[in-house]
Amino acid sequence: MPKVLIANGPNLNLLGSREPDVYGSVTLADIETALTERAKARGVEVAFVNSNHEGVLIDALHEAAMTCVAVVFNPGAFTHYSYALRDAVASISIPVVEVHLSNITARERFRATSVIAPACVGQISGFGADSYYLGLEAALLVAGEPA
Ligand code: DQA
Repeated sequence: MPKVLIANGPNLNLLGSREPDVYGSVTLADIETALTERAKARGVEVAFVNSNHEGVLIDALHEAAMTCVAVVFNPGAFTHYSYALRDAVASISIPVVEVHLSNITARERFRATSVIAPACVGQISGFGADSYYLGLEAALLVAGEPA
């Protein structure tokens, strides 16, 4: 069964209690459960990684290139300055879709720039938890998995 990695960066483990006015009340576990169900309905498998550490995410991207057809990636604040993660995305041959719960272009100025997005196939931002579901669909589309 084709597999998609859902990767989450720093502070996303605190979804649900973290700035609920910005990120909503849904937890990362809720999102992962819903993604697992959606993936099952689409005949694909999802795997998850969530880390506050850049190197762990880099290793997970390298590993995904050997085991997955695509990645849905919310790099958290690494989005705005991690050239190492940008290079990791550029270094792997499978498509990576960048996702954000909030609309990063409508917040503080530093958030409007993603150094990772240019290495991704595209970015989905501003749809709350639905950004992940849209990201999964986009990832499957670019990976050539039939709807
Ligand atoms: C975020 C947006 C980032 O700017 C922020 O640092 C996050 C969450 C989002 O999903 O909206 O941690 O990636």
